[in-house]
Amino acid sequence: MVKLQMTMTQLKPILSHLDAIRSTPGKFKADKYSPLFRFRLLSVPKLTLWSILFLILILLFFLFSPPTTPNPSRRALQTTSWGGSTWEHRVRISARTVSKTRRTVLVTGAAGFVGFHVSAALKRRGDGVVGLDNFNAYYDIGLKEGRKALLEKSGVFIVEGDINDGALLRKLFDIVAFTHVMHLAAQAGVRYAMQNPSSYIHSNIAGFVNLLEVCKSATIQPAIIWASSSSVYGLNSEVPFSEKDRTDQPASLYAATKKADEGIAHAYNHIYGLSITGLRFFTVYGPWGRPDMAYFFFTRDILKGKPIMIYEGSDHGTVARDFTYIDDVVKGCLRALDTAKKSTGSGGKRKGSAQLRIYNLGNTSPVPVSELVSKLEKLLKVKAKKKVVTMPRNGDVMYTHANISLAQKELGYKPTTDLETGLKKFVKWYLKYYDSKKKKSAW
Ligand SMILES: *[C@@H]1O[C@H](CO)[C@@H](O)[C@H](O)[C@H]1NC(C)=O
Repeated sequence: MVKLQMTMTQLKPILSHLDAIRSTPGKFKADKYSPLFRFRLLSVPKLTLWSILFLILILLFFLFSPPTTPNPSRRALQTTSWGGSTWEHRVRISARTVSKTRRTVLVTGAAGFVGFHVSAALKRRGDGVVGLDNFNAYYDIGLKEGRKALLEKSGVFIVEGDINDGALLRKLFDIVAFTHVMHLAAQAGVRYAMQNPSSYIHSNIAGFVNLLEVCKSATIQPAIIWASSSSVYGLNSEVPFSEKDRTDQPASLYAATKKADEGIAHAYNHIYGLSITGLRFFTVYGPWGRPDMAYFFFTRDILKGKPIMIYEGSDHGTVARDFTYIDDVVKGCLRALDTAKKSTGSGGKRKGSAQLRIYNLGNTSPVPVSELVSKLEKLLKVKAKKKVVTMPRNGDVMYTHANISLAQKELGYKPTTDLETGLKKFVKWYLKYYDSKKKKSAW
């Protein structure tokens, strides 16, 4: 079908050319014996026949020409879709701030789970917000499009582009003097790193460096708040995890890239005077969450009657997570932004020392995965088909538990949502979202 369409569009100019000749004979003093005149004498059915033959020929050509291999990273390469006066206008409008603090924030990963909620919260309180997202296909793009549509309704424009696109980032900084960058774009997921390691290097390492390069070169350097991860604690056995604990035993490539980012942040702070705050998120969950996370696909599979796999340690040890509700994390992000001091450098030159911080944003109450499942069963009113298996060595750790006293003391961070309450809100959203999708597709 696609091939046929291509043929038709290629044919169009030819056909319209024929049309033009036929409809403007007055332009030519065509005499009886001129080829043009004879051409006009061809009967219509004959012409149709020739056209069809010609069409078939072209069609055959396309059918037998070697297939073009689809490029999976095409979306990421389509970085020239930005630009133009309409586009710039949309960026400017989105960056308009109505708060006294005059904050304008560039949110990377704005169509992602945390990015979406943070963008919405910033806009609600009057900050200027411009989103950036490459809309990659790591998970259902429909979710990202849905988040984007909601943000657009509230006045947040999401630029479609990659953080690796330096020209795009510089352009955005030309248009808007961002006071802050909330960097939440990343390749997430610990298990997927075994399938697609380069994607982690591309987004989490190369992309992060590219973003910092543009930030440090800005005339007015923004303060940067970015998402690190609780996974940097890796095989750390001290509990609860505190910021001072060792983070040099990552259990996954994902964790290793986040750990590398913490080092990179230190270097850029040291050399260029960039104010940088890293936030180590602990298993963030909630409405509009990520489908690659256990609470999300457990919900999907339980509803489908599909068996779910529950991991346990080799000696039947409990696997537990410090589940942190999205609203609590958003509050933590905003508090980190509000307490961030200004960067001190300008145009790539350091003028003085700048703030460098790292905080745990967790919930301080780890919950065994088996308990997560029983809570979901209760909320969904469906019994799960459980299969308990020993946790494979694929990047997951046994246990996460945040010590949040530092964030409490310096940011005023205080999570207030327990797993029961948070899951209830998630399930409510889940059922509504997928029910309305089902109704739409039934049409
Ligand atoms: C949590 O971290 C703080 C330092 O930020 C430390 O003083 C405190 O002892 C830690 N709490 C526990 C229970 O380890």
